[in-house]
Amino acid sequence: MVTQCFNCYGTNVKTVLSAIEERLDEPSARGLARAVGATIRDGVLSSGDRLPPIRTVAAELALSPTTVSSAWSLLARSGTVRTDGRRGTTVLDQLHPPAGRYHRALEHQTRFATDLSTGVPDAALLPGLARAQRALSAAATPGSYLDPPVLPELAAVLLEHWPYAVDELAVVDGAMDALDLVTRCHLRFGDRVVVEHPCFPPIVDLLESVGAQVVPVPLDAEGLELTALEAALASPVAAVFLQPRAQNPTGVTTTPRRARAIARLLEGTGTLVVEDDSSGALPPATPLSLGRWLPGQTAYVRSFSKSHGPDLRLAALSAPPALLTAIRARRELGQGWSSRLLQRLLLALLSDPESVAQVERAAQEYGRRRAAFVEALARHGVEVGGTEGINVWVPVLDETAAVVRLASEGVGVAPGAPFSLIPGDGGHIRVTVGLVRDGVEELAEQVAAAARTGWSPRAR
Ligand SMILES: Cc1ncc(COP(=O)(O)O)c(C=O)c1O
Repeated sequence: MVTQCFNCYGTNVKTVLSAIEERLDEPSARGLARAVGATIRDGVLSSGDRLPPIRTVAAELALSPTTVSSAWSLLARSGTVRTDGRRGTTVLDQLHPPAGRYHRALEHQTRFATDLSTGVPDAALLPGLARAQRALSAAATPGSYLDPPVLPELAAVLLEHWPYAVDELAVVDGAMDALDLVTRCHLRFGDRVVVEHPCFPPIVDLLESVGAQVVPVPLDAEGLELTALEAALASPVAAVFLQPRAQNPTGVTTTPRRARAIARLLEGTGTLVVEDDSSGALPPATPLSLGRWLPGQTAYVRSFSKSHGPDLRLAALSAPPALLTAIRARRELGQGWSSRLLQRLLLALLSDPESVAQVERAAQEYGRRRAAFVEALARHGVEVGGTEGINVWVPVLDETAAVVRLASEGVGVAPGAPFSLIPGDGGHIRVTVGLVRDGVEELAEQVAAAARTGWSPRAR
């Protein structure tokens, strides 16, 4: 029962506490977070309002300060509130949320002569559409909005090259759509989710948007570090999100040995493995998925953005049957299906020998560009990890100094901070070398110099 009135927070604290108490159905951190969420939804608290101090809430609602503080952190992670030292904890604008890691990684004001900040494939290496378009004679009309959402011929071609045995797949609007659907259908507020460190920023934003607790596990040269993963699994983990191949940003590909070991750790747990294979459609196809060992615990996503073009907006997804059913049901209430016109275009691209050869040549060219840059960088004394993909993760002394120096030379790169989840791991920049057609020697020299920028004369 709320007994006191504090009026120092702009909103009437007594009113707020009473409103929260009315909505509190469970005296736990999650229960309190839900109650605050409902108080905001019902308009008692609005954007910019300060939450009462933790000690006040704890005393008035007969909860421990630890419970209240956990609730506040759940709310912060879901983007509902922001905690800012002196200003306390304020309610965020739900309709205009602040830019997440995704925007911080990619948004910049300047136009660069050489923009290697984007993480996109080289348009010149994508297969041409002219031949495939001939397969589209007319826009087919579905008999019903409830027709099967996946073109059966496309499903058959995809299943031939799937990394483990599955009966069916979903085709969705790109990997991010797949990850969004998996997240929304599988995860609950407060769930612990393991992600790679460093991590592709939109994945962190996505997980935080549903109030998941992100648990970073570092990568080494073979994939997720086993000891850190084992430690993370000491408490229940709802999902492990990983990129099995050409990890963005590091270029690390999980080795079969590491994949097997991760599968052993996860076997029999309730943990879902979510594999974001954004390079899976690029040869050499050494399909690797934990689904080989954990088919009932794996959701595997293969994007066609890097191989066939981001604007095709298509990815395929396999998942345990109950999850796939939930995803289909959820989609029926939204976009329904991914355009069958685009599905037919992808089918034509995957079936036409010339288009297949173009994608093979592109994969070889990305390999060549990466190797040339990495070798040139090593000649300038900068060693990087990873083996595959269009991005290189370069350690730098001072991230801001490196980004600014390269920008002043007309080269755009992505700062490492939005990818980074474990502090104290040093600065990095992500360079999309898949876009570097020529001038690699000069670029490597510029990047190496930028990597050293900030060194004091004595440190040198
Ligand atoms: C690791 C990773 N996941 C997902 C995506 C987004 O893929 P899509 O275009 O299929 O949504 C990207 C794009 O760069 C990526 O690198």
